[in-house]
Amino acid sequence: TSIISQQKYRPAYHFSTEDKWMNDPNGMVFFEGEYHLFYQYDSLGTTMGGNMHWGHAISTDLVTWERYPIALNPDEHGVIFSGSAVVDWQDTSGLCGGKPGLVAIFTHHDQAPGTNHARQRQSLAYSTDRGRSWMKYEGNPVLESERFIDFRDPKVFWHQPTEKWVMILASGQTVSIYNSPNLIDWTFASEFGQGIGSHVGVWECPDLFPLQIDGDHSKVKWVMFVSIGSEPEFPEGSRTQYFTGEFDGETFVNDEASKTVRWLDYGRDNYAGVSWSDIPEEDGRRLYIGWMSNWKYANLTPTQGWRGAMTIARELSLESRDGEITLIQRPVRELEKFRIPVLSLKETTMKEAQSRLTELQLDSYEVVAEFEATTAFGFKLRTSTEQETIVGYIPESYELYVDRTRSGVVDIHKYFSSRHAVKVETTEGRLELRVYVDRSSIEVFASEGKAVMTDLIFPDPEAKGLELFATDVSLKLHSLEIYALPSLGR
Ligand code: FRU
Repeated sequence: TSIISQQKYRPAYHFSTEDKWMNDPNGMVFFEGEYHLFYQYDSLGTTMGGNMHWGHAISTDLVTWERYPIALNPDEHGVIFSGSAVVDWQDTSGLCGGKPGLVAIFTHHDQAPGTNHARQRQSLAYSTDRGRSWMKYEGNPVLESERFIDFRDPKVFWHQPTEKWVMILASGQTVSIYNSPNLIDWTFASEFGQGIGSHVGVWECPDLFPLQIDGDHSKVKWVMFVSIGSEPEFPEGSRTQYFTGEFDGETFVNDEASKTVRWLDYGRDNYAGVSWSDIPEEDGRRLYIGWMSNWKYANLTPTQGWRGAMTIARELSLESRDGEITLIQRPVRELEKFRIPVLSLKETTMKEAQSRLTELQLDSYEVVAEFEATTAFGFKLRTSTEQETIVGYIPESYELYVDRTRSGVVDIHKYFSSRHAVKVETTEGRLELRVYVDRSSIEVFASEGKAVMTDLIFPDPEAKGLELFATDVSLKLHSLEIYALPSLGR
């Protein structure tokens, strides 16, 4: 093991920045067998400063990441904020030398001349060597706004039916949609979001993509993600909402169901995530990764010399369950290859399982369990005599909760120490839970990915106990599997 992997709170199997500061994932694109992950990176310190770059990592399995040199540096147009990347298959931009190449579309952020406010404009960079080196486009910026100061985070995709590029970007408290034939010349198409969804903070990092309902290719819905910034009066801080609806290449019309705000994640630490571009059709997945933090306290987390990690990569789908179309998130299957079996129990009782857990000491692992959900029960994770993080379920109120009030270091911000919950129905009295635990996070997937909670925790490295609890210990446990996950940090 390298020195990095021994640092306190350093994730074992989550991507984290080697040093300094990291926030949003950027420019996720698949090209020639490689998943690219760029990210907001400040090379000057461990807090969000005024010096944002795009850091870069590459993976062939969405789990092990190889770090690469910085891809985009600040220049005369400003620092580099969030954005996306696409494969320009037909070289519509003319930047890729007549071959398929990578084009990044990102926000240049600087100060508007003669004012004291920001200016945010969209620019391009391209790579003709599989993302190893990047050139800024000479004609930057390619899109600016007279209306909006907050005008950022372009997510671009090719819309086959209309044979145009589509850009969706955040514009104040709405999103704006633009079209282009060549990634360079952009025409305004529509604006979405006035009076719709949550407006408790500035809108950021939108995404827009089609998904089949229940895997049926004749039933397609468009899904829009919009992340919302943190405002002091809301304890939840920054989080991501989603809408479902129809999209014709220019205008998004949201479904009736989108009138109630729906969150992507009911934990506190999954923000600014968007999906991968150009996943091959034969794979067909919509893949996602988020920044595992919250602007409420992102600058205050107790790591030393580095700050910032991503969620595990997830697969998104839409399922119609109980008369509703719901966004489903599942851990990518690639993670299963890293499993180191520790324990497997079938058709047992809580009592029996409890005794088997007492001998375990683990800090990075996965738990897969199915309970008879008739009385309150749950897991205590990363425990020591003083510490525990609880993932529990209360059948009477259908409440799945995470309680991190005793999870270790919690005094970084008044809203960090918290218990939060989401309503999850049982299926025939059963509840399925999949929990990913790492050195400074937990991710809970309930009911086959219908409800997700992602939370940072900062337990002592020695807090490695794992317990089960239940009001009635004769409660049935249909299955319990525990897998250790290796330290892949390098
Ligand atoms: C979201 C965000 C983006 C912006 C970036 C700057 O977390 O505020 O809107 O582009 O972070 O780092």
